Amino acid sequence: MPLKAELHCHLEGAAAPELVIRQAQKYGVDPSPFIQDGAFIWSDFTSFLACYDFAADLFRNEDDYARLTDHYLTSLARDGAIYSELFTSPDHAQKAGLSPRAYTDAIAEGMTRAKAKTGIEARMIVTGVRHFGVERVEAAARFAARCKHPLVTGFGMAGEERFGDTEDYVRAFEIAREAGLGITVHAGELAGWESVSDAIEHIRPARIGHGVRAIENPDLVKKIADLGVVLECCPGSNIALNVFSSFAEHPFAELRRAGCKVTLNSDDPPYFSTSLKHEYELASQHFGLTETDLISITRTAIEAAFVDRATRTALLARLPAIPRSR
Ligand code: HPA
Ligand code: ZN
Repeated sequence: MPLKAELHCHLEGAAAPELVIRQAQKYGVDPSPFIQDGAFIWSDFTSFLACYDFAADLFRNEDDYARLTDHYLTSLARDGAIYSELFTSPDHAQKAGLSPRAYTDAIAEGMTRAKAKTGIEARMIVTGVRHFGVERVEAAARFAARCKHPLVTGFGMAGEERFGDTEDYVRAFEIAREAGLGITVHAGELAGWESVSDAIEHIRPARIGHGVRAIENPDLVKKIADLGVVLECCPGSNIALNVFSSFAEHPFAELRRAGCKVTLNSDDPPYFSTSLKHEYELASQHFGLTETDLISITRTAIEAAFVDRATRTALLARLPAIPRSR
């Protein structure tokens, strides 16, 4: 089993239906509009977000978040992951009654517990939610910049890509960049190649969440390869949301062949019936990646991770050396 690393997973989206049902019972909420027969109920991106918001609202205190984080990271480590970056959302925490600081400390507690058990290294990427508007995204960036938590090392933006103009969010990203945080932004998933081009031009991220619809424009693919912008690809999520109609049509292999730095990620695993392990298996099955290729994907992820040099060096040292091709 190849060692793995994950750069793109939404913490609230990692809660399994059974756990969400337990949380619903704990808080006296009826989960049946959103969970049936042990599965989340959604049919398109809008109803997926509604289901996600429902589940997120059932994590309300420090203990809920520490357990969720510990549970996800422990299972990820059992699947061979040595590194994980989790997207956090202070807006979701606040809606559920928890301050961004208490929320962040609780997630850090979960990370510490999982690391003690399994050795998995983890960091947080604070995200703003695009469709909550520019003000909220800037508030998330200000929190990320001032919290100075050692495990908060990045800032990103998730949510509805088709909402608003990318240019309007530049200030939020400048606040985060100024504070020394790594920058990633969702683009090119539900919106077309133009959204990736806008993100690169205005936000200048080190990484792009998804970015796969860049494939619609060969000049843009070349630009991504030349700039070395890393794509956080989530093929299982893309198929579940019908961004591409089959794995045969997914551009992962083509982007990789074109010299783009690509990584494998689970996004919101139980919603899309996936896991990081499953994404590595899909890549082997559908994109022809060998064991050596998969290790090089993990290496790309660690090279692009938002961590200090010593941590990166230590993580890279855990990967097997790439055998020389003859
Ligand atoms: N895409 C965009 N925004 C999100 C997602 C996603 O998969 N999950 C949670 N917020
Ligand atoms: Zn995502």
